[in-house]
Amino acid sequence: MRTRITELFNIEHPIIQGGMHFVGFAELAAAVSNAGGLGIITGLTQRTPELLANEIRRCREMTDKPFGVNLTFLPIVTAPDYPGYIRAIVDGGVRIVETAGNNPQKWLPGLHEAGVKVIHKCTSVRHSLKAEAIGCDAVSVDGFECGGHPGEDDIPNFILLPRAAEELKIPFVASGGMADGRSLVAALALGADGINMGTRFMATKEAPVHDNVKQAIVAASELDTRLVMRPLRNTERVLRNAAVDRLLEKERVLGANLKFDDIMGEVAGVYPRIMREGDMDAGAWSCGMVAGLIHDVPSVRELIERIMREAEAIIRGRLAGFLAA
Ligand SMILES: Cc1cc2nc3c(=O)[nH]c(=O)nc-3n(C[C@H](O)[C@H](O)[C@H](O)COP(=O)(O)O)c2cc1C
Repeated sequence: MRTRITELFNIEHPIIQGGMHFVGFAELAAAVSNAGGLGIITGLTQRTPELLANEIRRCREMTDKPFGVNLTFLPIVTAPDYPGYIRAIVDGGVRIVETAGNNPQKWLPGLHEAGVKVIHKCTSVRHSLKAEAIGCDAVSVDGFECGGHPGEDDIPNFILLPRAAEELKIPFVASGGMADGRSLVAALALGADGINMGTRFMATKEAPVHDNVKQAIVAASELDTRLVMRPLRNTERVLRNAAVDRLLEKERVLGANLKFDDIMGEVAGVYPRIMREGDMDAGAWSCGMVAGLIHDVPSVRELIERIMREAEAIIRGRLAGFLAA
């Protein structure tokens, strides 16, 4: 399958693995890239630029295919060493960066001069157009269904993707709720040039997370996610658990008076305990509604090949079959 995204990133299949905190290590990124998709290392999971440089080296030892690095621009006062991370990316020979969070404009000239292509993750048409205007090469359009931060507009992909297609000139991938060949064909029909997946890639053999995380995703239905931190305008879609129930109760009781400090125990620094140790109630962790479509833990290659096989069968069989000869 050839699309503007496979051409832009020089990959075989139009499938991207989005950055995921404490999930997007070299093992997963390399597995996705080796299977013909685009794997992405999560930059900020590496505590320093030196550690990121090392992670990039590890990934390169595992794949000779293109892979990217995610840089999430957080809305916090003491920013991480972004210039250092960008140096690690450029010096490490990485040519694709997935940005997310705040506007990446400040960092684009440096990245582009080094020959790096930038795909920015956006949760609205407005932000996607901004990304196009400042010179991003592509966008990842993240619908309300997505695991992680869906923004505050709450527009699901059945509306958001065709709206993005109406307005954007640069290529975009559909993100949020993508799991299988049906997702890919639907995304293409709605105007996207590929898909970006988070939650689905967490439930794969190569995902370097505790088996409890994978089993929790397989066990979950589409009804089991919750939105937290909405009162702070930092909404995150997470899998419901004891910590999330506690957090939501605090939000209910404190209402507009809620401060980040009130919920630190449920959200700050909880990822290592969940992802590494499998302590599933340690805090709130991102998970998409798409958990309802995830019923197994295949290898990354099995997953990607299945998606491509299914997509082809749907296009050639089911869809073509609707048309009169
Ligand atoms: C556990 C987890 C951690 C995530 N961490 C990040 C992150 O650090 N930066 C980022 O840009 N997106 C992050 N995301 C969002 C994903 O890159 C992707 O946009 C999202 O998962 C797509 O929705 P889906 O889960 O329905 O596939 C995370 C998602 C999950 C599930």
